[in-house]
Amino acid sequence: MSSAAATSALARTAPLYDRVSRFVPPFEWPAYAHDIDAILRLKKERNAVILAHNYQTPQIFHCVADFAGDSLALARMAQDSDADVIVLAGVHFMAETAKLLNPTRKVLISDTSAGCSLAESITAEDVRALRRKYPGVPVITYVNTSAAVKAESDICCTSGNALKIVESLGVDRVIMIPDEFLAQNIAKQTKVEIITWAGHCEVHELFTPQDVRDMREANPGVFVLAHPECPPDVVAEADYAGSTAGMIDYVREHRPPRVALLTECSMSDNVAVQYPDLEFVRPCNLCPHMKKITLGNLRECLENMTHEVTIDPAVAEAARRAVERMLAVK
Ligand code: 13P
Ligand code: SF4
Repeated sequence: MSSAAATSALARTAPLYDRVSRFVPPFEWPAYAHDIDAILRLKKERNAVILAHNYQTPQIFHCVADFAGDSLALARMAQDSDADVIVLAGVHFMAETAKLLNPTRKVLISDTSAGCSLAESITAEDVRALRRKYPGVPVITYVNTSAAVKAESDICCTSGNALKIVESLGVDRVIMIPDEFLAQNIAKQTKVEIITWAGHCEVHELFTPQDVRDMREANPGVFVLAHPECPPDVVAEADYAGSTAGMIDYVREHRPPRVALLTECSMSDNVAVQYPDLEFVRPCNLCPHMKKITLGNLRECLENMTHEVTIDPAVAEAARRAVERMLAVK
């Protein structure tokens, strides 16, 4: 790129840098500015939207995303989108969900290897075996799963609606897969018996109750919010538990002056951009899968229209039913 073009990209993106400057060092910005400028142009040329999960870096979340949110919000946004191209800045199961809800649109993910330890913990055959073991018990599948696993399920859930989905079925026993900790955390809030699976999120399973106690000692008055993928003994030490969007809503509504979000690292940075008056303690763990998405590969995938997400039509039809059934629960 010529130095004149680089200067123009810097000038055009200067207002975006003002937003994220507390979290992006100035020496990194020129390289980001170049990609951001190109991505903003390419989105217009391709009639594309970028849907970003709350765990994306601030330079993606605040500078190129058209919509951002938790897994439930991303699914709803994908359902409502009328863009020709949807680029999912998140992990593969999120892109698959977007494709399920938009079978006629092009859905891209800029790194197809962006997986999830929960999605990898269970297969479609495992679900069939569970059904044989517990005949007649409905299967609720967390969205953090492959389309093939969703296709074997009665209904999906996210961390934002799991309790509502369990209770919507009107039964006294359900199978809830694959996140054991989410299932145990929900089981504490309902009379419905929950059969679980031993899958874990490799990010949230690392938090311990001692981490929370140490954090409180080092940061008097800190308000601790935990994601329900954390182990139940960690959630028990926290002041609030909810999905990533639930945590953001809580911070917006209650404005605790000192906050700790027990979740992925970028989430605190993204929320802190919006609430500069609050102090964020950062006891975070990185998700290596979410971090595979970068401005560089987002730009490349929009430039070349590569890494399209496709799903076998027979699998897609059954998986879509489970996702749409979830979205219909109000
Ligand atoms: P939510 O954003 O739905 O709370 O999910 C968290 C997560 O781990 C997604 O990968
Ligand atoms: Fe999967 Fe956990 Fe990463 Fe989310 S944070 S994508 S649940 S490994």
